[in-house]
Amino acid sequence: MNIPFEVFREPAAMRARAEDLRRDGRKIAVVPTMGALHEGHLALVRHARARADVVILTIFVNPKQFGPREDLSRYPRDEAGDLAKARPAGIDLAFCPSAEAMYPAGSQTFIEVRELQQPLCGTSRPGHFAGVATVVSKLFHITRPHVAVFGEKDYQQLAIIRRMVRDLDFGIEIQGVPIVREADGLALSSRNAYLSPEQRAAALSLSRGLGAADAAFKAGERDARMLVAIARAPIEAESLARIDYVELRDADELSTIERIENRAVLAIAAFVGNTRLIDNRVLAS
Ligand code: PAJ
Repeated sequence: MNIPFEVFREPAAMRARAEDLRRDGRKIAVVPTMGALHEGHLALVRHARARADVVILTIFVNPKQFGPREDLSRYPRDEAGDLAKARPAGIDLAFCPSAEAMYPAGSQTFIEVRELQQPLCGTSRPGHFAGVATVVSKLFHITRPHVAVFGEKDYQQLAIIRRMVRDLDFGIEIQGVPIVREADGLALSSRNAYLSPEQRAAALSLSRGLGAADAAFKAGERDARMLVAIARAPIEAESLARIDYVELRDADELSTIERIENRAVLAIAAFVGNTRLIDNRVLAS
């Protein structure tokens, strides 16, 4: 798109620009991120680029989705480096607000996707998904997109956003992009930067567990307990890794299942040192 690159910091200015672009008939795609961009984020940008006239990247480390004992203050921040990576990947505009601009004093409204927010990461991170749904709905109102692009890496987050958009009639097309991995299988994550070489080696057990379960599934295993046990084994064998959860759930409702009938998601969260990592794989016939 031939529009001058610009970084917006004020919600009102960003929204005014987006409204103008819509009035001109441009199709807008938004890619929400918390920065510390890697190839996973850039895959979302390229996906958006291929589907819209204008691609808006948002970078905002959203305090409302971090728990009191989580890594908000040490979350990696490098806006200049992020924009230098994202611009050649195809962004037209960026929205990088301050916490004060997003949450002026007195902000008290939250969006909750009541059931989908409960299990999996919702159990160990209470309040996290209300923070995510709230900030994403704000980002949607501010950037006025036709399309929004999210990674399947955060599987539950994607399910929650799809449901929010459906339940509240946002009228935005939600696109999911497959997980981008290192050559050895480790899912790219901004939090991988926290890992020592030994911890990184231990972190590989998550994707190994998923791979082993997927192989068993392809060989005909459908029993949830068996598949979970297979996925857990390589992680339990790592002294540096501690499982938060390994669960097999219905791919859409995230409800518990005993056997795979059609589509299921095998989801893992584990701590390696103090770093909490997630990964998942959809098992479908
Ligand atoms: P963040 O963790 O920065 O991720 C931004 C987007 O990149 C999310 O949609 C996430 O699923 C996607 N992503 C991250 N790693 C990926 C990988 N290896 N492969 C594919 N996609 C990947 O998720 C958030 O930020 C925040 O919760 C946010 C939605 C921005 C709301 O604050």
